Amino acid sequence: MIRSSVIGALVSTAAMTSGCSTQPSYQPVATVEQIMEASVEPTSNAVFDAAAWVNGVQVGGPRTDDDWKMGEANALMLAEAGNLLLMGSRAKDQVGWVTRTQAMMDAANEAARAAQAKNTDAIFNAGTTIYRACLGCHLQYINPATVKPSPGQ
Ligand code: HEC
Repeated sequence: MIRSSVIGALVSTAAMTSGCSTQPSYQPVATVEQIMEASVEPTSNAVFDAAAWVNGVQVGGPRTDDDWKMGEANALMLAEAGNLLLMGSRAKDQVGWVTRTQAMMDAANEAARAAQAKNTDAIFNAGTTIYRACLGCHLQYINPATVKPSPGQ
């Protein structure tokens, strides 16, 4: 409580001294396609790979504390990538795009909690929900006639 009021005071002082709004200034840089390829895809793959089986035998998957930590970090970066998808003109509308991004973020946060708990089954379930979120958005927003194949198509 004390800490948050100190932070609050610092923030309002900063706002007063800069003399303008507290809106952070950010500049969207990459395209949705680039965010998919360099952020959404690798981080979601790390989550999927954390709970994968071949012929009933788990392959790969986190072993050490560091592995689990990386799994958690990747899941959180996937959730964070959702924020990038919501920025400015990247959002194709304020309805389905937002709901579908939110679904991906919720599932990614669920995967992060599962990694923190070192729970392989829970990561698998979260991965399934993440995959559905990818699929749902692709089906709604990618025209199969104009775009090369991607997950969920
Ligand atoms: C909010 C909507 C949305 C969500 C959620 C979403 N995508 Fe996408 N994705 C798109 C759109 C739109 C494109 C097409 C981008 C373009 O080519 O301009 C795309 C394209 C892609 C591509 C192809 C990029 C290329 O080279 O053209 C990959 C790979 C991809 N997505 C992976 C994923 C994965 C994996 C997930 C889930 C973890 C996911 N996406 C979730 C909207 C979404």
